[in-house]
Amino acid sequence: MSTEDNNWQESFSVRMQNIDNQSKKKRRMSVEDMEWLDLYSVDIESIDDQHKEIVSLINVLHDAMRSQTVDNRLLTDLVDQLSNYTQYHFAYEEMFFLKYKYAGGETHKKLHRDFIHKINSFKKDLSVELSYEISSFLKTWLVDHIIGTDKKYVKFLKAHGVT
Ligand SMILES: [Fe+2]
Ligand SMILES: [Fe+2]
Repeated sequence: MSTEDNNWQESFSVRMQNIDNQSKKKRRMSVEDMEWLDLYSVDIESIDDQHKEIVSLINVLHDAMRSQTVDNRLLTDLVDQLSNYTQYHFAYEEMFFLKYKYAGGETHKKLHRDFIHKINSFKKDLSVELSYEISSFLKTWLVDHIIGTDKKYVKFLKAHGVT
């Protein structure tokens, strides 16, 4: 290969690298925090508080994703934290299903299990790139689950005095 070819190839790869870095930077900047909206409220304070905590853990993950120094180890720790807290929250809801024999309990529990399974599969090969996918999955899942599934137990749990 001639020196000219080599030079051309080098400058081409530098240009590509720059474009790649710019698009990575843009993606970092575009991670939007999740905002708590009143419409997510299930009107049971203990459960709203736990849902809010999950939102804030998602935002901690977002902060890390935006930082230039984030590494896979830190991301794994944060996803672990999120997964552990979410499991604690699921156990809290499921305790009431069992205690008061909630009819929709089994279907609801299966959705919780599927979620944990999905998070664990993400964790197997976590990377900064993959964290964008995780983040959008988490946001969508949480909102859909609260509105579409958690809200179904509200009347039932309130009738049993859960606050
Ligand atoms: Fe929930
Ligand atoms: Fe739930």
